[in-house]
Formats: sequence, structure tokens, C-alpha cells
Amino acid sequence: MLLVLIYLLSAVAADAYPYVPPWMTLPPAPGLPKTTTTGYVNATNGVNIWYAQFGPSLSETTSNGMTPILFIHGAQASSDYWGHQISYLLHQEEPSTIIAMDLRLMGRSTYGDLSTSFSLKAADTIAVLDHLGIDKAAVVGWSNGAVTLVNLLLDYHSRIERAFVFAAGYDADTSLNRTTGTAQFNATSAVYFERTLEELVELSVDPELVPAARQAYTEEYVREPHWTADDFARIPMPYEDCEAAPLVWFVEGAEEEIVNKGAARTMHEWTPGSGWMVLPDVSHFA
Ligand SMILES: *[C@@H]1O[C@H](CO)[C@@H](O)[C@H](O)[C@H]1NC(C)=O
Ligand SMILES: *[C@@H]1O[C@H](CO)[C@@H](O)[C@H](O)[C@H]1NC(C)=O
Ligand SMILES: *[C@@H]1O[C@H](CO)[C@@H](O)[C@H](O)[C@H]1NC(C)=O
Repeated sequence: MLLVLIYLLSAVAADAYPYVPPWMTLPPAPGLPKTTTTGYVNATNGVNIWYAQFGPSLSETTSNGMTPILFIHGAQASSDYWGHQISYLLHQEEPSTIIAMDLRLMGRSTYGDLSTSFSLKAADTIAVLDHLGIDKAAVVGWSNGAVTLVNLLLDYHSRIERAFVFAAGYDADTSLNRTTGTAQFNATSAVYFERTLEELVELSVDPELVPAARQAYTEEYVREPHWTADDFARIPMPYEDCEAAPLVWFVEGAEEEIVNKGAARTMHEWTPGSGWMVLPDVSHFA
């Protein structure tokens, strides 16, 4: 009797709530927890980069022998997308200082002459670290922010203590493949691109420039990056120099709408000593 009842109830529940895998959903951007400081750093091309700081002060983190953590969001987004990760880390027993920055032309950062490239964004990141007096950071990058993080590993590895590179590509011609019109693309990417227009207008210091900024990012992904194994060979290896080598993880979702599957594994193979991980049940939008 009980079993029949359970069977009937679960059949009803299954009808009422069909299973939707996480990668077919796009929950709202969570927004940021309480900041301790926010500000702008003046970068190149007349662009000013917005950043926010959370948790203990930098001097507290440094005196505890810990490393500050910096988050870099994806294209068409803002730091707000990191709300859950930042809150989670702030609730650890001994949290580090956390910093989030809005990429140039995105979020609350400004537009200057509307120029963008991964090397400019890597330089913007260094400008934020310099401004805050941070020698080395643990950096988490997603998508466009993960490509920026790869650029940091290639050109500024002495400033990166560890890197979590999620959903990056390494070559605009071969590793970025936006297959539009599929159910998965419609469920996440199509919703994302539509929704972020409103979000950016809401956050922008100059909403009229949002469409041009979005276009600049679309063109950037057609143009770059073009990195090969030779470029990744510039990242120091832990086998040779444990002090200098950043601890690097290349990570991708088991599902992908934007970057070709396997890009993380390729970068891992080009970076001896790095880690590689596939997150189950999530996509580019984790
Ligand atoms: C630096 O950025 C702030 C914030 O956008 C701005 O008010 C200030 O004018 C900028 N300074 C320069 C020299 O561009
Ligand atoms: C893009 O992805 C589709 C579907 O997975 C695949 O058929 C196509 O070959 C890919 N294109 C490139 C250039 O990799
Ligand atoms: C995805 O959306 C496009 C545009 O609205 C539509 O033409 C297409 O049929 C959709 N594909 C699926 C698999 O839902």
C-alpha cells in the first residue's frame, strides 16, 4: 500500500516537475554581497575599471599568509554574476580578501574609445592589482574573463599565484563555435544574450553606449585570441620552478554552447603540471 502510494505520488510529482538539467537553466544573476570598498582604476584608452572588495582587509589577508582572490566575469556580464561564489568564500572559517572587477566596456566600467582586446584586459587587471598593492593573486576567470586570465598567465605569470580558468578558448578560429538554434543554445545562451542587454543598461554609467560595447566584444571574439602550444610554453612549469610557477586549473562544463568541447583539455596538455577538470551537468554558464 505504502509503495503504491509512493509510486503514485512520484508519478504525479514527475508530471508536475519534469526534470530539467542544470545546463538547460539560467537562474537570475545573483547580485553581489556587501562590499567593503568600491572604486575605479584609470586604465588605458580613457577606460576606467570598476572594482569591489569584500571580506577581510588586504593587510589582514597578507598577515595571515593568505592570498587575495580576484574574480573576472564573462562577456556581456558584470561582477554581479559571481555573487554566489563570493558569498560562499566569505563564509569560510578564515576567508581571504575577495576582489571583483568589471571588464572594460562591461558592467560599471567605462567605455573610453571603445577599444578592447585580451591584452588590454590583462593590463587592466594588472592596473587593478597595482592600485590595490597586490603582488600576487589567486584569479578565477569565466569565459571572456578566463581568456583574459590565460593572457595574464602568458604575459604576467609572476602576478598569479593560482588560476581557475573556466570555459576559455585559445583560438577564435578553432575553439569558439557558437552553434545557435539548438535547444540548449536557446535555453541558456539565447536567454543570456537577451537578458544581459537589460542588465548592462541598468548598471552602465552611459547606457547609450551599451550596444556599441556589446558589438565590440562580439568583434573581439571573431578577431582573437590565436594562441598555440608555443604561447603556453611561456608559463613556468612547477617541475622546473615551483616558486615561480602558478598553480593552474583548466576547467570546462560537460556541456558547452560557446567554446568547443575539449578546449580546456588542450590547454591543460599544453601546460605541463596544470590540472584539468570537467564539471558534470553544467554548461558554459555553469
Ligand atoms: C578616473 O576614473 C574616475 C571614475 O570614472 C573618473 O571620475 C576620473 O575622471 C578618471 N580620471 C582620469 C584622469 O581619467
Ligand atoms: C561546431 O559544432 C558543431 C556541433 O557540435 C559541429 O558539427 C561543427 O563541426 C563545429 N564547427 C567547428 C568549426 O568546429
Ligand atoms: C531555437 O530558437 C530559434 C530562434 O527562435 C528557432 O528557430 C529554433 O527552432 C529553436 N531551436 C530549438 C531546438 O528549440
